[in-house]
Amino acid sequence: MTNPIEISVADQVQTIRMNRPDKKNAITGAMYKDMAAAVNSAKADSNIRATLFLGVPGAFSAGNDINDFMQVAMTGKRGSMDVFDFLEAIIMSEKPLLAGVDGLAIGIGTTMLMHCDYVIASNQSAFSTPFVDLGLVPEAGSSLIAPRIMGHQRAFELLAMGAKWSADEAQGAGLVNKVTDSNSIEQEAYAIAGALAAKPPEALSISRKLIRGDRSDVLARMKEEAVLFGERLTSEEAKTAFMAFMSKGQKKAS
Ligand code: COA
Repeated sequence: MTNPIEISVADQVQTIRMNRPDKKNAITGAMYKDMAAAVNSAKADSNIRATLFLGVPGAFSAGNDINDFMQVAMTGKRGSMDVFDFLEAIIMSEKPLLAGVDGLAIGIGTTMLMHCDYVIASNQSAFSTPFVDLGLVPEAGSSLIAPRIMGHQRAFELLAMGAKWSADEAQGAGLVNKVTDSNSIEQEAYAIAGALAAKPPEALSISRKLIRGDRSDVLARMKEEAVLFGERLTSEEAKTAFMAFMSKGQKKAS
C-alpha cells in the first residue's frame, strides 16, 4: 500500500505530496501528523529552502476526512489534535511554502493555501469551503486571513456562502498566483520552488518575515475557530450533513 503522504527532498526543495487518490486526497489524522512533522523538520534542515505541497492529478485535497468528522459527531469525543499541529506548523513555518493545485481543493484543501507564499493552480482546479453547508464554521485561521487576502465580500462568498471558484476566480481573489495547464503544473511548480531555493537564504528569510508579519493573531484565531468548530461537529446541522454524505456512498455501493 502506498503511503498517503509522500515526503522527499531534491534540489533543496522539500515536497509533501498528498497521495490518497481513491478518496480524492481526503485528509486523515495520520496524514496531518506526517505533514506537520515534515514542515517542522524543515525548520532546522539547512538543506531545505522551500516546501512544496502537491496532490494527485484531479485532487489536491477533498478536505478533512468526513468519516473522522462523523466519529466526533457520533461519540462527542474530540479526535486527534493532529490537524491543529499541522495548522500551527504551516502558520509558523520559517521556510517558504508553495502549493501546486490540480483539481479539487475543498475545505482545508483551500484554507491551507492561505498560509502558502505562492500558489500555482491548473485550469482544472476548483476551490470551495462548504463549511456552512456542513453545519460547520471556517477553520485554519481563514476567518481572519481570507478577508486580508481578498476583502470581506469575497471572503464571505467563499467561506460563508460556499462558492465554488475556478482557478481564474481564485486568482482574481488573490488566493492563486499563477494559472497553468494540468499537464505542466508540477514542472512549473518545481521551477518556481527551485528558483526560490536558489536565492540568498538569509535575505529571503528576513524578507519573508517582514512580509508575513507577526503570526500570533492568526494562531490565536485558528485556536478560537477550533473551539467553535469542535462544538459545531456535534450539532444536529452537522450530523445531518455528514449522514447525507455517508448515504451517498452507501447508495453508490448498493
Ligand atoms: N472525506 C471522506 N471521504 C471522501 C471525502 C472526504 N472529504 N471526499 C471524497 N471522499 C471519498 C468518497 O466517499 C468516495 O469514497 P468511496 O469510493 O469509498 O465511496 C471517494 O472519495 C470518491 O468520491 P466521490 O464522492 O465518489 O467522487 P465525486 O467525484 O462524485 O465527488 C467530491 C468528489 C470531492 C465533490 C465529493 O466526494 C465530496 O463532496 N466530498 C466531500 C468534500 C467535503 O465536504 N469536504 C470537507 C470540507 S470541510
